[in-house]
Amino acid sequence: MVSLQSYQTPTAFKHALGALENLADEAKALGLKRPMFVTDQGLVKAGLVDEALSVLKKGGVDYLLFDEVIPNPPVALVDRGAALYAEAGCDGLIGFGGGSSMDAAKAIGVVAVHGGSAVDYEWADPNPIVKPIPPLIAVPTTAGTGSEATLWAVITDPERHIKFNIGGTPHIAAAVALIDPLLTVNLPAHVTAGTGMDALAHAIECYTMAYAQPFTDAVALLAMEYVGQYLRIAFAQGHNTEARYKMSMAAMLGGLAYGTDSAGAAHAMSQTAGGVVDCPHGALTARLLGPVMEYNYLGEPQKFARIAQALGEDVRGLSVWQAAERAVEAVYRLTEDVEIPTLQDLGFSEDQIPLLAELASKDPQTIGNPRDVDYRGYVKIYERAFALGA
Ligand SMILES: [Fe+2]
Repeated sequence: MVSLQSYQTPTAFKHALGALENLADEAKALGLKRPMFVTDQGLVKAGLVDEALSVLKKGGVDYLLFDEVIPNPPVALVDRGAALYAEAGCDGLIGFGGGSSMDAAKAIGVVAVHGGSAVDYEWADPNPIVKPIPPLIAVPTTAGTGSEATLWAVITDPERHIKFNIGGTPHIAAAVALIDPLLTVNLPAHVTAGTGMDALAHAIECYTMAYAQPFTDAVALLAMEYVGQYLRIAFAQGHNTEARYKMSMAAMLGGLAYGTDSAGAAHAMSQTAGGVVDCPHGALTARLLGPVMEYNYLGEPQKFARIAQALGEDVRGLSVWQAAERAVEAVYRLTEDVEIPTLQDLGFSEDQIPLLAELASKDPQTIGNPRDVDYRGYVKIYERAFALGA
């Protein structure tokens, strides 16, 4: 049988400035009587959770609040959430937050319908996820992870010191992605920067990977354009709603660029390194993206030349190779402009390179990278990334 390339997502994408007001109506339209509201303490303190819960109350939708999500959510948290979900007789999920809360909600949904523990559902062939999760409304409060659009949840296994992926099937997708860019206007600039660069990394990695196809190419290119045009503005001027809107769309499109597949070397590195040093996924991925592109562009020069154009570089009169190099330079420049911390600032040290390279080389996201990459390749990329921070 021929292995078909396919693109499928069951998610309805709904977006507007102020879209949060529609949360209760969306829940009712899905038939939810008692969804579990999955979020974190930071958003409780910021007042955003109250805002969302008052919409549910006003709309007469009962809920169970689970506000224990922490960054890089661990297996135990997901399992606890799934136990509470069952105890309270919930019938759906609202994932409210950044990637951690939306991913936790997806993973809670997987365990709620299949039983066992989150650790049992790490992606494998055949996929252990065989049933759809309960109806999930994903409400992003950052513009970056694209988890509202992806078919993945990233969960941390503290025992193995790694993050692993659950998903790769439409069964884990949100029923509705309710995107309200107003939820992002008060984000600190460094969070805007890291998460926005993460969206760019999703677009660039998925665009240049071996499994790329016209659907994913199309959404990836527009995501890159929006990041190129609007990330600096959103970083410099948090209340600029046009920039926030476009960055929310960039995150959504970057998430859609995955299709059923995963990202590339930058994510193989950031997800494994994130299990070694607990640090923000966006900033870490951003810091690795330039060095990965510098390593990768030899494999797909035409596509890297197109990335340069999408990022707004003037490539007229340049050869394909020169234009491809411009893409790398443009990403390095953007990384500096939005003040992404160095690997050293994030808590890594050069003596960890052998360990980090070893872990990255075992990550399944390495498959399909535009340039063959093994342990030695990852050592080279890490050496470059550390040199930039020296
Ligand atoms: Fe990411």
